Parts: sequence; C-alpha cells; structure tokens
Amino acid sequence: MKGIILAGGNATRLRPLTKVTCKQLLPVYDRPMIYYPINTLVSSGIRDILIIVAPTYSGHFLNLLGSGKEFGANFSFAIQDSPRGLADAFIVGEDFIANDNVTMILGDNIFDQDFSKEIKSFKSGAMIFSKQVPDPERFGVVEFDKNHKVINIEEKPQKPKSNYCVVGLYAYDPRCVQYAKELKPSARGEIEITDLNNRYLRGGELKVNLFDGLWEDAGTFDSLIRVSNYMASKQNKLKK
Ligand code: DAU
Repeated sequence: MKGIILAGGNATRLRPLTKVTCKQLLPVYDRPMIYYPINTLVSSGIRDILIIVAPTYSGHFLNLLGSGKEFGANFSFAIQDSPRGLADAFIVGEDFIANDNVTMILGDNIFDQDFSKEIKSFKSGAMIFSKQVPDPERFGVVEFDKNHKVINIEEKPQKPKSNYCVVGLYAYDPRCVQYAKELKPSARGEIEITDLNNRYLRGGELKVNLFDGLWEDAGTFDSLIRVSNYMASKQNKLKK
C-alpha cells in the first residue's frame, strides 16, 4: 500500500493567513498542519508517501519535510500545476502508484486515530470513510436506502440525503488512475473524487466505513482554531 497526501490548492478561504504561505503549512497548535496527515498514514503502516503540492510553495515543503526519515517514511514530491480536482492526484501520481494500491489523505484533514486495521485489510476496489456531521452540505454526502445500503454519494448537495459526510481519506486499487482519466470535470471545473467513488459504487466495489472519532477539515478559521484547541488540550493532558 502506497500513500498520497494532496496538499495543493489555493486556500482562498483562509486569506490573509494563506497570502504568503499555504494552508497545509499553517500551525495546528505546535506543528504544521501537514504533520497530522503524515502521521495518519505512517501510523497506518504506510511508508512510501507521495506529497502533491502546488508550484508556489513547493520548496517550503521540501525544506520542512525532507526525505521523510524523521517520520520513519520515504517521501517523494510532485507538483500539481493547477488545482484540477482531488481525483487529479491519481493522474499526477500515476508513475508513483504503478501497480499498487494507494491510500490518499487530504493535507488539511486531521484525524486522531490510526486506520491500520481497515487499511491493512484493504484488497481491491475502493474504500472511503464517513462520519456524521451537523453540516453535511459542505462535503460529499452518503445516501443510504432503507436497508442501510449505500446507493449514492453526492458532492455538496443543497439538500443532503443523510448527515454522513465523506471525509478526506480514501483507499483505491490501481484502477483509480484510469478511472480518474475518464472523469468529466464538474460544474466547478474539477474532476471530483465523488465521481470516482460513484464509479466504484456502480461496480459494486465501494466499501464505506463509518467511524466516530475526531475529524476536522481544517480549511476554515473556525475548524482551524477548534482542532488547534483539541490538540493543545490533548498534549497538555499527556504532559500531566
Ligand atoms: O474534507 C472532505 C471533503 O473534501 C469531502 O467531503 C469532499 O467530498 C471533497 O470534494 C473535498 O471537499 P473540499 O471542498 O473540502 O475540497 P477542497 O477543494 O477544499 O480540497 C481539499 C484539499 O485538497 C485542500 O487542502 C486543497 C487540496 N487540493 C484541492 C484541489 C481541488 C489540491 O491539492 N488540489 C486540487 O486540485
């Protein structure tokens, strides 16, 4: 199993914090945001990790993260020239993925648990993770039928069919590269990971894992401070 961290994009929502740096390098309590997704992958047993960044601050990532030795991992870096969508990570990462399975985590998604059990048991198809949230319309949303079977995923629906959102952690077999190439851009001009997930779902090959631990998409001022406070109180408890 290989790993990808998608850490590009423009982060216009966080201006002026992101005027001269990028979101995934902002502090979350005592460390840069990207340390958390790195830790999620490493603690799930993934060692070979491709970090996809935007051109502007690519040197900062290299300076900060280096070879990966400090994290017990082996890092490679790739540049995404423009933010074409989350599924573009598999096109940018085609050579890196080769014929292996891959777990992708978004560079601004923060968890407080390891997913080694699920990730180590992943064999083929696709696997996503979902959690109940109060504001599902901001995310990909899982639709269930009356037997609790997953029947569709919708990207940022105005009227969500459930409050189970899709979080930014996904595992795929190597077909994700070809499937990503076949996706058509959405109305917002991106190739959507939700469309990729639906492609696997239609083939009966999408597994959805529900979980209830900490998860934040740290892409807004409020989530950034919330997750910083969470990590601060966790660290302070450990010190006592
Ligand atoms: O956080 C979970 C959500 O992430 C999912 O529920 C949604 O289904 C999924 O589409 C995504 O929604 P967002 O609107 O949060 O995605 P955003 O455009 O903010 O991008 C997520 C991260 O990926 C962000 O750190 C920037 C980076 N990114 C984004 C795009 C579009 C890239 O590196 N390259 C890109 O092309």
